[in-house]
Amino acid sequence: MLKWIVEELKLPAPPFWLIGGLLILLSLALVPLALTARARVSSSDKPRVHMFLDMDKQTKFKAQADSPIFADGRAMRQPVAGTLAWGDNPDAPDTDLLAQDDHYFRGYRLEKNATTGGMDTVYYQGFPGRVQVDHDLLKRGQRQFNIYCAPCHGLGGQGDGAIYQRSLKIKAGWVQPSNVTDIERAARPEGHLFNTITNGIRNMAGYGAQIPVEDRWAIVAYLRALQLSQDAPASLADGTE
Ligand code: HEC
Repeated sequence: MLKWIVEELKLPAPPFWLIGGLLILLSLALVPLALTARARVSSSDKPRVHMFLDMDKQTKFKAQADSPIFADGRAMRQPVAGTLAWGDNPDAPDTDLLAQDDHYFRGYRLEKNATTGGMDTVYYQGFPGRVQVDHDLLKRGQRQFNIYCAPCHGLGGQGDGAIYQRSLKIKAGWVQPSNVTDIERAARPEGHLFNTITNGIRNMAGYGAQIPVEDRWAIVAYLRALQLSQDAPASLADGTE
């Protein structure tokens, strides 16, 4: 075809360098495609190429950094004099500051150890004054437990939830969720259980970010109900006690 056109139109045959050059360009044009194809099937620990930065990277002061802007040289500013933390209002003590109600917000307090000089973590026994343990709280606790905890711990709290069942099938060595109704867990102070929900324990992650404080106490109350349900005397179940 090309030969025919050349002969028919009496065009001179394209020079060798032109054909050679075109072939080289053609093969170079395949390089980006080959690189793209390779990138799609391989993995890299380097960050992705960031074409459009938008505002992802910008100059800023990081925590605890120096700043030439302020006279005291600190980038982190102090609250304006006279500022009250939310709830730190003497006229409304029921909206206490976090620090003023360790029992409710943390479940533990730190106490100075006279012998070692360090701080001891002391878990609170019982429910904080502002939590009223009643039927409604238990109902709420049951609901939240079944949503957040039962997938691992099982509806009855024995550590046999659906996630654990599945993990046995797909991976060996998964740490079994604790039986939250056993003697060891029943002996834990309420504050300890509360802190386990807030911050997690050993291999269990914390749920403080998902579950509000009052719901965490509701779950603690429900854990107590689950514990009580183990080997409970029949008189408890039929309401005679
Ligand atoms: C993703 C699975 C998972 C979820 C969800 C989960 N847990 Fe756990 N939990 C575990 C595992 C695993 C352990 C045992 C950790 C270990 O022994 O290393 C554990 C341990 C515990 C313990 C025993 C702590 C102790 O004192 O020894 C309690 C109590 C507990 N969980 C309560 C809860 C409650 C309440 C919830 C819901 C708010 C919850 N867990 C949600 C996996 C889970």
